[in-house]
Amino acid sequence: MVTRVLMVCLGNICRSPLAEGILQNKVNSDLVFVDSAGTGGFHIGSKPDSRSIAVGLKYDLDISHQRCRKFTVKDFDEFDLIYVMDLSNYRNVIALAQNEQQKNKVKLLLDEVESTTKEVPDPYYDDNGFEHVFHLIDEACTAIANKLERN
Ligand code: 4NP
Repeated sequence: MVTRVLMVCLGNICRSPLAEGILQNKVNSDLVFVDSAGTGGFHIGSKPDSRSIAVGLKYDLDISHQRCRKFTVKDFDEFDLIYVMDLSNYRNVIALAQNEQQKNKVKLLLDEVESTTKEVPDPYYDDNGFEHVFHLIDEACTAIANKLERN
């Protein structure tokens, strides 16, 4: 059975597109499907932010084909795991959950690793933040990929 994983941030143009691409790259696509979405609807249909595309390419990851979409309540039915980048995303997603089973699907991405910070910072207003964000997400995705492979 295919495990379906959704990566969520606010805009779905900076952090979650990277998380989608990074995790998909680390897993067998016959076994794990990864998508991403944003809780805000400001950039629907847009490509990822050029700074996310650039940091991805630096590490041989092309995310330029992705297009922004908004998180919807239907995603609770369509995904097994929903990883959010920060606590604000967590609150926004949990507020849409209709039962405990849906709430239990929602996890902070960095809860998967021993990290001093629990949140992937929003790099939108910080040109220098993208490198840091890439590495935080990459480490967490390695842990998630290892966990999924053991299932
Ligand atoms: P993201 O970053 O949540 O990592 O995609 C943001 C992108 C856009 C905005 C905020 C955060 N925005 O306000 O437009």
